[in-house]
Amino acid sequence: MPTLTLPAPQPLAMPLSDALSRRRSKRAFTREDITPQQLSNLLWAAAGVTDPSGKRTAPSCLDLRAVTVFVLRADGAWRYDAAKNVLEQTTPEDLRAASTLGQHQFVDAAPVTLVFVAEETPRTKMARPSWIYLDAGTMVQSAYLAATAMGLGGVARGSVDGAKLGERMRLPATMKPIFCFTAGHPAP
Ligand SMILES: Cc1cc2nc3c(=O)[nH]c(=O)nc-3n(C[C@H](O)[C@H](O)[C@H](O)COP(=O)(O)O)c2cc1C
Repeated sequence: MPTLTLPAPQPLAMPLSDALSRRRSKRAFTREDITPQQLSNLLWAAAGVTDPSGKRTAPSCLDLRAVTVFVLRADGAWRYDAAKNVLEQTTPEDLRAASTLGQHQFVDAAPVTLVFVAEETPRTKMARPSWIYLDAGTMVQSAYLAATAMGLGGVARGSVDGAKLGERMRLPATMKPIFCFTAGHPAP
């Protein structure tokens, strides 16, 4: 399957306090694409590796780092390999609309939907499921802040059929989409 190298993530200039106060969920997007640089920055904020040990921008219960971010866009579903800063395609199918339960039309127009996928391993079984969700929650807040700092908008979406979406993304049964973050240029 194809891989794509992302540009190196670039620093974002907006003060953290401004990003925090301006952050809002946006549910209306133009069809304009986001740039590879913006995508790289967004993914790095959510799950970037910031230490040779593999530690990330976001904290992780028991340091399991069991949540991986995938990207859905017009050219397919892609796994973000944060250490290599590359995207690895899992399917060429456009699954953006398939990531909704049918009620979120704005997702079809938005250029990207990030999918937070929890991997079940013998070690993650030791953790409470709520802890894994907390990992994903901290990651999505970072994505919200990075989107805000770049003048983009986004919304966390818990209403996802994770089992069905995981199948369409061709994920193994041990990897479950738990929620999404749809992002793009906010419609005026
Ligand atoms: C875990 C979680 C799940 C959410 N699921 C959805 C969703 O399925 N659809 C949606 O439109 N918004 C969803 N939201 C966004 C919330 O509705 C939104 O954060 C809330 O209304 C507060 O607005 P704000 O984010 O602009 O401050 C979700 C937010 C979180 C944290």
